[in-house]
Amino acid sequence: MDDHERKPHDEKKEKKGVLKVSRRAFLKGMATGSVAATAATLPVLPLCEAEASAPAGVKEATIQLTVNGRAVRLKVKSNWTLLEALRRELGLTGTKKACDRGNCGACTVIADGKAVYACSLLAVAMDGRKITTIEGLREGEKLHPIQKAFAEHGGYQCGFCTSGQMMAAKALLDKNPKPTVDEVRAGLAGNLCRCGAYPKIIESVLSAASKA
Ligand code: FES
Ligand code: FES
Repeated sequence: MDDHERKPHDEKKEKKGVLKVSRRAFLKGMATGSVAATAATLPVLPLCEAEASAPAGVKEATIQLTVNGRAVRLKVKSNWTLLEALRRELGLTGTKKACDRGNCGACTVIADGKAVYACSLLAVAMDGRKITTIEGLREGEKLHPIQKAFAEHGGYQCGFCTSGQMMAAKALLDKNPKPTVDEVRAGLAGNLCRCGAYPKIIESVLSAASKA
């Protein structure tokens, strides 16, 4: 799984790259002051009502993200994952929650150019990051070439893994615009498809690459 850092719950790796704060380590010793400092110009989105009363020990912080090119400030609980913040607070439900434990890749988004599992990153650890989700791929009504290729080549069946597959493909093609079949397989190795649509998924990514 090269460097796309989608191995969760691995504290050794977390020290090296995007995964800088493990859920356990953070909850043990969170220093709220380090995550609460954000720009004052943007409005702070309120916590959703369901989260109004926090369990004991859970703290809140305000973070700033750039999501699909838009700067947002939002309040998050210290135990929320990036996936929860994207889906619940920002309504970006194109990023899917499946295993919720870093096994399947359905929740893949791009953080500062790298494909990551949004279910395995604490939202507070992402303060200041640039995040791209599936909603950020197309430009207005115009589908991104990867989305077009998946549609044209039938790179999906039930579609539940598809947004994650596309985001992994985007991260791959941004770095390697003309990958070989093996490189596509390696680039998408962190994304499972329970429908087994792998041949069509790979075909779709190669097709998108050929048109770039
Ligand atoms: S939902 Fe995140 S890896 Fe499965
Ligand atoms: S298309 Fe159904 S899980 Fe991949």
